[in-house]
Amino acid sequence: MRIVVFIITLGWVSTFCTPAGNEVSEPAVKMEVVLAPEVAAGKDLFEANCSGCHGVKVQAFADQRWKHGNSPEEIAATIREGRAEGAMPSFAAMLDSMAIQNLVAYIQYGINQVGEYDFEDEFDYDTIHSHLGQAFTLELVTEAAEVPWGMAFLPTGALLVTDRNGKIFKIEGQEAIELKNVPQVNSKNQGGMLDIVLDPEFASNQLVYVSYSKVHPEDAELTTTAVSRYVLTENGLEDAVEIFEATPYESTNHHFGSRLVFGDDGYLYITVGDRGKRDDNPQDLTRSPGKVHRIKSDGTIPDDNPFVADPNAVASIYSYGHRNPQGMIKDPATGNMWAHEHGPRGGDEINEIVAGNNYGWPVISYGINYNGTVFTTETEREGMEQPKHYWVPSIGPSGMAYVTSERYPNWKNHLLSGSLKYGFVSVMPLRGGSLGDETRLLEGVGRTRSIVQSPDGYLYIGLERPGRVYKIVPVSE
Ligand code: HEC
Repeated sequence: MRIVVFIITLGWVSTFCTPAGNEVSEPAVKMEVVLAPEVAAGKDLFEANCSGCHGVKVQAFADQRWKHGNSPEEIAATIREGRAEGAMPSFAAMLDSMAIQNLVAYIQYGINQVGEYDFEDEFDYDTIHSHLGQAFTLELVTEAAEVPWGMAFLPTGALLVTDRNGKIFKIEGQEAIELKNVPQVNSKNQGGMLDIVLDPEFASNQLVYVSYSKVHPEDAELTTTAVSRYVLTENGLEDAVEIFEATPYESTNHHFGSRLVFGDDGYLYITVGDRGKRDDNPQDLTRSPGKVHRIKSDGTIPDDNPFVADPNAVASIYSYGHRNPQGMIKDPATGNMWAHEHGPRGGDEINEIVAGNNYGWPVISYGINYNGTVFTTETEREGMEQPKHYWVPSIGPSGMAYVTSERYPNWKNHLLSGSLKYGFVSVMPLRGGSLGDETRLLEGVGRTRSIVQSPDGYLYIGLERPGRVYKIVPVSE
């Protein structure tokens, strides 16, 4: 005991009792960061192979509660072997041990830089921005939801925001009310509380629809995408009716989909991702994952759904061959749904969703595996639809809106898609079923998870890490 105290005392003395004359104040010069060669090599590898899922800023990735350990050995094992049933892919086939060591060095550099890193290209939220001749500012609406996955406006102007972590907030002015009696969700990895939409007759029936990752009632290891309908009360949900459940349940915790949009036909369209089982689900009409579904608002099946006559097919299927669609809108000109979906590495797509169509995943794709290996050389095939647009490299699309508002005249009739990977909003004119050239709005704004246009014509974007919702306020000259 005595010895320990003695050593601590010595340490104290030597650290703090330096002669005053030795104190040299640091000159306020911003140093150019020069990375050690293995760290620089790791940076290139990280940007090429990892940023699609983990973002381009390693400091932001490193600033987390580590699940599989952050010692060099543990990080190397994660990269080599993969985790979470392939949600974090194995890179053993593609990266040799030198490359993995370089990545480990870069991630450790990121860990050491957390908190003191000076993001040179920091986005300025408080300035006036401009895009396609439209000047605007960003107004912070709420920071209540950590991952603002879905948004829906009430006729009163209040905003419902889902938080993937398992909550739903009602934002009224400065107040964020956490709704009671929301569904129990599995909020692991990509799962949790997902989208929310109002009934087209909400003003008279107060019905709302919520999609979420549901845990199997008898086996906590299994989950699926489900949709329930509720009556919205002042501060909670009541009268739950489950109207949709994708089958089979899966043990993975990714690729749930699941956007909700009502069509002009009054039916509810639901996207469901392939749950990471690309060889089992998207092309198999007896299984719900990897599809766009269409149901009536009470969960029953419209008579004219494309596969109702096939006794083996899941009757709610509207289109198939999808990977993980996390954005969908209705094109007001045609009434058709448009959805984007995450590709693997490269090959994110925008598709016009037409009854009975096969969108080809994983038989045709413009992407390759995350670990650089190829799973298909085909990009087109008879009987499979071509995307209206595809992104190589992947942008990680989430959230979609179609601008009908007069508030941003130059953006009217444009399709907006959020980018998780690069943190911008993709903007493309959509008229008469065809897409024009892409421009990028709000580059560097942060991981864009959701986008909606409010009933009074304003656009709102939901960002994560940290979670915020901003209103895009036009500045009129
Ligand atoms: C397809 C998306 C994807 C890609 C590509 C990807 N990862 Fe991951 N990674 C994940 C997911 C999802 C997890 C979380 C796994 C879990 O929850 O167990 C993860 C976890 C990790 C972890 C463990 C974090 C912890 O909490 O312990 C490390 C380290 C990691 N990834 C490094 C990398 C590196 C390095 C690369 C590039 C060589 C990479 N990842 C590429 C999806 C990805």
